[in-house]
Formats: sequence, C-alpha cells, structure tokens
Amino acid sequence: MFYYVPDVNRAYADIVDLMYVVPFGRFLRNSHRWGAHAMVITVSVHMFRVFLTGSYKPPRQFNWVVGVILLVLTFLLSFTGYLLPWDQLGYWAITVGTNMARATPLLGHEGPFSYILGMRPDNDIRFALLGGTSIDAPALLRAYVWHCIAIPVIASALMMVHFWRVRKDGGISGPL
Ligand code: HEM
Repeated sequence: MFYYVPDVNRAYADIVDLMYVVPFGRFLRNSHRWGAHAMVITVSVHMFRVFLTGSYKPPRQFNWVVGVILLVLTFLLSFTGYLLPWDQLGYWAITVGTNMARATPLLGHEGPFSYILGMRPDNDIRFALLGGTSIDAPALLRAYVWHCIAIPVIASALMMVHFWRVRKDGGISGPL
C-alpha cells in the first residue's frame, strides 16, 4: 500500500517499480503472489481432509458451511488481486469473470428472469462489480477496496466464528 496506487495511469508502473526499483519489492510481490497460490491449495487440502474424516457431520455441519463461505472468499481474494497489476493477465481474467456475472439468474441483465427485477447493462450485478459498463478506473478501485479491506475483514470475522466452532464442537474430530 505504500508503493501502489489503484489508479489506471500508474498501477502498472507502480508494480514495475516494485519489481525493479523498491528494495525487496520483488521478494515481497512474489511472496504475496506465491502465498496466495499456497492459500488456495491449503484451504482446498484442508476441506478435503475435513471431508475424508467425515468432520462435516453433526455437530460440525455449521462449521462446514462457514468453511464453504471461507473457500469462496479465498477464491475472491485471489480474483480481486488479479486485476490490481492492471496488466493483460488481470484485465482479461476480470473480463471473463464479470462477463459470467451478467448471466447470473435474476441479477445479470443476460440472466434468466432478469426482466423481473428490470436488469439492464447499466444497473445489473456486473455494473455493480465494475462500477460501470466497462473495465476501467472504477473497477480497479473497487477491486482494490474488496481485496485490501472488505474481503479480509469479512474473512477474518468468519475465521473467528470458524475457530470458535471448532472448540464449541468439542475440538478437532478424531477417530471414534
Ligand atoms: C480461510 C479458510 C479456512 C481456514 C483459515 C480454516 C481453519 C481451520 C482450522 C485452524 C481448523 C481446526 C484445525 C483443523 O481441523 O485443521 C478448522 C477446522 C474445520 N474446518 Fe476449516 N478453515 C478454512 C476453510 C474451511 C473450508 C473450506 C471448510 C469446508 C468446506 C472447512 C471446514 C472445517 C471443519 C468442518 C472443521 C472442523 C474439523 C474437525 O473438527 O475435525 N474449513 N478450520
């Protein structure tokens, strides 16, 4: 946050500076990116472990649901982070993702039953995600706020519930 500004005129240059000018910038950026990949893999392996040990069964079914929400938030953290370098990779990843959003039932202007809520290109879920009908400055700023503040706050609150439930459910499940 000290060296990166979510502005379309300088975001990419800030990332290049981070890589080649800022002391330890390349190490920080790479560890952040590899850390993100590792989080997606670790959460998926954790979910697989929980499934294999049947730890979704009562009384832990509530914690499984909290976990599923945490899994989605983990994916969204990586997805929103993708756009921030404002490079081709990020731009087209967001294009694909938000184009899928416009086909959302009820909420996307191309989705089924969207006429019920009167969805148009300038008021549907894709518009809300991008802050416009195209991927531009508002989209970059929204991705930045979701990535750096909103999702971390929501995920942290859910993790506290998750950890509390682990104890309330009698600790980590084990063989009967
Ligand atoms: C950010 C993501 C997540 C974090 C930080 C997290 C963290 C934890 C921790 C520290 C535990 C206790 C130790 C352990 O059992 O490994 C736990 C247990 C559990 N987690 Fe997660 N978890 C996450 C995502 C998930 C997901 C995606 C699921 C399933 C969809 C899930 C379901 C559970 C369940 C059911 C338990 C209780 C397991 C037991 O009692 O054996 N968690 N979680």
